[in-house]
Amino acid sequence: MMPAQPRPRRSVLYVPASNARALVKLSSLACDTAIIDLEDAVMPQDKGAARQALSGISAHRQQSRMELVVRINPLSGVWGADDLKAALALAPDGILLPKVETPRDLLEAGDIMDDADAPDTMALWAMVETPRALLNLGAIAELGRDRASRLSCLVAGTNDLVKETGVKATPDRRYLAPWLMQLVLAAKAGNLDVLDGVFNDFRDRDAFAQECMEGAAMGFSGKTLIHPDQIAQANFAFAASPEALAEARAIVDGFALPENAGRAVIVIGGRMVERLHLAQAENLLAKTARIGN
Ligand code: COA
Ligand code: MG
Repeated sequence: MMPAQPRPRRSVLYVPASNARALVKLSSLACDTAIIDLEDAVMPQDKGAARQALSGISAHRQQSRMELVVRINPLSGVWGADDLKAALALAPDGILLPKVETPRDLLEAGDIMDDADAPDTMALWAMVETPRALLNLGAIAELGRDRASRLSCLVAGTNDLVKETGVKATPDRRYLAPWLMQLVLAAKAGNLDVLDGVFNDFRDRDAFAQECMEGAAMGFSGKTLIHPDQIAQANFAFAASPEALAEARAIVDGFALPENAGRAVIVIGGRMVERLHLAQAENLLAKTARIGN
């Protein structure tokens, strides 16, 4: 398996595959990633047409640096297998599985991808949106340490979590926060990216900005979005600050000095820096380098 290139995932927009206008709009948008949705944004009677619309997307893709992911229906249901087949034909960067509850759900999807000779670089993403997924988080995230599993990103499905658990959805997300923090923790343990849930009230820009800032502070890599108007704010909130970038450069430069070649720990600007910070710094710089102007 090839090592995954770190990439920015600040702004990750759901686009219903059944919405032709939205699909056309996509090529003009500055989100890091688009998730073309075949699942909950598509009505049962539109599933077939939505699947067929996937084939039209490849045309826009050539010059785009945007990451492309397809969300399929659960493989345990009636649509999932056909969705996955259609998605593989598009050769996206990743496949997002909804309602993942156990590692097995991911292993099964990975087996189908292997059998279809999907490239090693095609990733699996997992929605965490049920109580069972939360209880199995450790085992699910552990797959991230095995490149053969393809797992690269966890996505909070906050609307489903609210529905499944009956917690009240308050503006400050106080009842969701403990689970979201567990999700972030599990993702970090598995070397995975992790995306915050969507903000439904997309006309309320101030409240959205607040939730973005909180998501960034909680350790999320980025936010899933439902509307183009949310992209710029997410790109801003989840971007590395100039200070963080300067520090990352100083760490990389520090360890590159010949006198530090054999050192595990060095001092930069009066502060101790370890080699574990070097990997983080390189990751941050690589992600940032992939963000276009
Ligand atoms: N992706 C791409 N383009 C989108 C878009 C999206 N998610 N949402 C809206 N647009 C486009 C519209 O097509 C419209 O394009 P136009 O300028 O060519 O007409 C433009 O952005 C403005 O859209 P607007 O009129 O403000 O919104 P709307 O009323 O058409 O749609 C929603 C509102 C919420 C129905 C729509 O944003 C949506 O379907 N979002 C995704 C929902 C989803 O995927 N849910 C599942 C995951 S939670
Ligand atoms: Mg869901």
